[in-house]
Amino acid sequence: MKEKLIVALDVAGQKEALGLVEQLTGRVGAFKIGMQLFNSEGPGIVKEIQGLGGKVFVDLKFHDIPNTVAQAAKVITGMKVFMFNVHASGGFEMMHGATGAAKEAAERLEIKKPLVIGVTVLTSISQDVFEREVGIDRSIEDQVTAWAKLAQKAGLDGVVASPREILPLRKACGSDFLIVTPGVRPLWAAANDQKRVMTPKEAVQQGADYLVVGRPITAHKNPREAAAKIIEEMEEAANA
Ligand code: C5P
Repeated sequence: MKEKLIVALDVAGQKEALGLVEQLTGRVGAFKIGMQLFNSEGPGIVKEIQGLGGKVFVDLKFHDIPNTVAQAAKVITGMKVFMFNVHASGGFEMMHGATGAAKEAAERLEIKKPLVIGVTVLTSISQDVFEREVGIDRSIEDQVTAWAKLAQKAGLDGVVASPREILPLRKACGSDFLIVTPGVRPLWAAANDQKRVMTPKEAVQQGADYLVVGRPITAHKNPREAAAKIIEEMEEAANA
């Protein structure tokens, strides 16, 4: 179960990030670095984390013309990351190009292809904003499912999804498609700004393949203990 837990390193700098990696490596599945850490420290942070034995999910949500994203996918694959993501709204050709480029680069370098994950509708977008600003006159739930199916057709390994989306996505995409779920909160942790949360046990029960958890671990006075408690709760679901 520990392999399914991805810790979001939403911290300002290398020192803090590596301090957490040192405490948690071998005890969780991977570390997610996002725009803040990647842009403040540069790609070297990936190597630093790997040097401590951690697997890395680079959460940069690529979204550009297919050629540009494919080139970026090649570069990211060369960094031997475990997972990276692209926006499904970039379309079939962009997603297909990204995963194809990752596969090609991995074969050339004789390394494992990173998991390529699609981002559908950001959970910060409300139905009203979706219609008025994004300009899509459809329910968010329908659009999430449509983009997940498109991502699957384009050869992506899975999608990021809020806990509430797990069941409909499983139904639409089957059991082989990975579902990576943030918005996870154990009962003993603060919800922070997350609105629609699920416990680790519930998320595993619903069928999430990977859970992304940040502050309940990174802001805990004992991150190791927090991670161990979360893994225990995930195991409860698997053994139920
Ligand atoms: O600290 P917390 O557990 O809320 O962190 C969750 C992580 O997952 C953050 O890095 C956040 O950006 C990311 N995320 C999210 N909701 C999404 C997509 C990504 O919380 N829909």
